[in-house]
Amino acid sequence: MVHHTDVSVVTIERFIIEQEKLHAPQATGELSGILYDLALAAKMIASKVRSAGLADVLGATSDINVHGETQQKLDVLANSIMIKALDHGGRLCAMASEEEPDIIPIPEGFRTGKYCLLFDPLDGSSNIDVNVPVGTIFSVLKKVTRGPRGELADMLQRGRRQVASGYVIYGSSTMMVYTTGQGVHGFTLDPSIGEFLLSHPNIRTPRVGRYLSVNDSYLRDWDEPLRALMRVYRGQDGDRKPLSVRYVGSLVADFHRNLLGGGLFAYPANRQNRRGKLRLLYEANPLAMIAEQAGGAAIDGVNPVLDVTPTELHQRTPLFIGSADDVELARTMLAPQLSSVGA
Ligand code: AHG
Ligand code: MN
Ligand code: MN
Repeated sequence: MVHHTDVSVVTIERFIIEQEKLHAPQATGELSGILYDLALAAKMIASKVRSAGLADVLGATSDINVHGETQQKLDVLANSIMIKALDHGGRLCAMASEEEPDIIPIPEGFRTGKYCLLFDPLDGSSNIDVNVPVGTIFSVLKKVTRGPRGELADMLQRGRRQVASGYVIYGSSTMMVYTTGQGVHGFTLDPSIGEFLLSHPNIRTPRVGRYLSVNDSYLRDWDEPLRALMRVYRGQDGDRKPLSVRYVGSLVADFHRNLLGGGLFAYPANRQNRRGKLRLLYEANPLAMIAEQAGGAAIDGVNPVLDVTPTELHQRTPLFIGSADDVELARTMLAPQLSSVGA
């Protein structure tokens, strides 16, 4: 935590180099290169988001994405920035995005590398027109197939195999938070110098949370064990201290607040929608790695999210993520019922 008298001169670049020397002295620097490119893409997206009300980038396009959702202009812009900032570095073998139906190949003529990048270019974009924080979420996997180019099998790896993950939040300030499996570190963009500076080294999430984040307008489609769980979180049943309800509707913003303050974010399955809404590869896995690295947890109702073997690129998953004790309560109240119906 930075005190008001401190001046951080630890840029994200310096931090990445120092971490690599410390934890992976034999590394080739490729993963570090991906992280710098992501920081650059984040600055470019931040600048578009910041001027969104002025430039003609608000509102919807006429396109529907692979999930049947209307694409916002900024979704499309953020998606292109991510691809353009990362496709030529020679470190990736392919990419996959929430906004694209298929794997994104590295263009002919560019070198390829040993990593895959998966991302949600603009999370919470349906809120953008009302000036609510949005974000970018990313996940890095190591290629497992033999050829020079990435294939579907490279993308469909368990989240446990991620080598790095993180997110950028475009809030009252822009922050990038990432992990390479050595703790979770947060950087705040100083817009006057255009650099991300280390502001939140080694983030740990409280074991017991303060906040509950869930959209309970779906309550009538919830099964009884889920309703009972929510009553316990709210202090309506049992003797737990009630959690305070906070729901932005941008996963990155809800997750970030709960990571720092402690809490539980839930996007459960319901009777209308047995797989939930959030995407395993672009949203749940990267945030689950951050949560676990910060001392928290993430389950799909039964199993750790990171242990689920994906079968499709755009697979959805129920998600309960945040403070370890709050996630454990969800598991004990939901798992017996969910495992028995095989959901
Ligand atoms: P995206 O904007 O990338 O499609 O993600 C939207 C997600 C997520 O950010 C948020 O937590 C959730 O949708 C909110 O859904 P509800 O409106 O159903 O609560
Ligand atoms: Mn999203
Ligand atoms: Mn999105």
